[in-house]
Amino acid sequence: MTKACNPAFSRKALAAITAINFSALPVCAGEVEVLHWWTSGGEAKAAQSLKASLQLKGHSWKDFAVAGGGGDSAMTVLKSRVVSGNAPAAAQIKGPSLQDWAREGVLANIDDVAKAGHWDDLLPKVVSDQMKFKGSYIAVPVNVHRVNWLWINPQAFKRAGAKAPSNWDEFFVAAEALKKAGLIPVAHGGQNWQDLTLFEDVALGVGGSDFYRQALVQLDQAALNSATMEKVLGTFKRVKAYTDKNSPGRDWNLASAMVIKGEAGMQFMGDWAKGEFIAAGKAPGKDFICTPSPGSAKAFTYNIDSFAMFKLKNETNSLAQKDLAATIMGPEFQETFSLNKGSIPVRVGVKMDKFDECAKQSSSDFGSSAKAGTLLPSIAHGMAVPSAVEGAIKDAISQFWNSDRMSAREAMQQIATAARTK
Ligand code: GAL
Repeated sequence: MTKACNPAFSRKALAAITAINFSALPVCAGEVEVLHWWTSGGEAKAAQSLKASLQLKGHSWKDFAVAGGGGDSAMTVLKSRVVSGNAPAAAQIKGPSLQDWAREGVLANIDDVAKAGHWDDLLPKVVSDQMKFKGSYIAVPVNVHRVNWLWINPQAFKRAGAKAPSNWDEFFVAAEALKKAGLIPVAHGGQNWQDLTLFEDVALGVGGSDFYRQALVQLDQAALNSATMEKVLGTFKRVKAYTDKNSPGRDWNLASAMVIKGEAGMQFMGDWAKGEFIAAGKAPGKDFICTPSPGSAKAFTYNIDSFAMFKLKNETNSLAQKDLAATIMGPEFQETFSLNKGSIPVRVGVKMDKFDECAKQSSSDFGSSAKAGTLLPSIAHGMAVPSAVEGAIKDAISQFWNSDRMSAREAMQQIATAARTK
């Protein structure tokens, strides 16, 4: 419900002239339209907690959900909305793309909210830098996802006599055992962002952190055209033999469901997959196991969800938009949201006691990898390189994955060319 109000007459002003604490009451009830792609079981629960927190402040939430894991469809829809002069108040935009949107001059400055909430003190610098354009906040971070996880069904592994792999040799031994036991070893969704998610896990596990950084963050041509890259591509392609014939086009959450049901033994996916396990009533350590993707235990590929705030004409809605930003950084919301989403809070100092072992490991590995220099941005999730480059690399990787003819050497050349995309 939108009430008529004077936006200039803020809660703060009211509080100053009366003894009554108005902080719980909405002075200006606005509407916030929020673009996101959180439509799977766990994601929807998490999105619901954001909606509820905003409504608690008296504002209304206009849902603008565009289905499609990884958000490619959402980004296409967003572009057309902004071009037609009809931007939503907030949109799920991440990584270097935030800078691209800010350069277009369409994002709002939310420094006042950030200052009041002490965001500079509450966020790791690697995060706050990404949320700013020319020194001013234009976006609010929500959470931290770890991408380099492998999700395992322990009953399936037991049936196959397989052991959780800690390197790629062990992975192929486990995959072979699962296959012999009549199970689908790897639940894979053949969509290009999922292919790239698997590829970055292989690059990290086979090539190591330095190789990952040189090849997939710095786009160094020597690393992209190297014997290591050829080996990574060869290993990546070997995984395909352990996926099922129905994998092309499959959504990631349906792949998670295969592991949940025990039809498949494992899935490579970021920890939003844990949101699916939890939403299905499964318990970590018992019904499913989280383990770093093979060979990547000492590293952490991060994926930070964030909302960019668009410039709005309606002043009431823009106050509501700021309330949304403040809510997202609040400690209660940071906890509730990540408990549903499978991630960890992005705000430092949030207590982890309600979180499970996977989240606790993620939190401690985030810190130790930052110290060791092995905290790396995920290329598959828009953290590492400009979106045009990511798109070109993503296409080349999927072409290789799907082709029966393309050699690793040919793929390597295509990827190196893709990395030069302007
Ligand atoms: C990621 C996003 C996550 C998760 C996933 C699957 O890119 O950061 O929050 O939703 O896509 O849709």
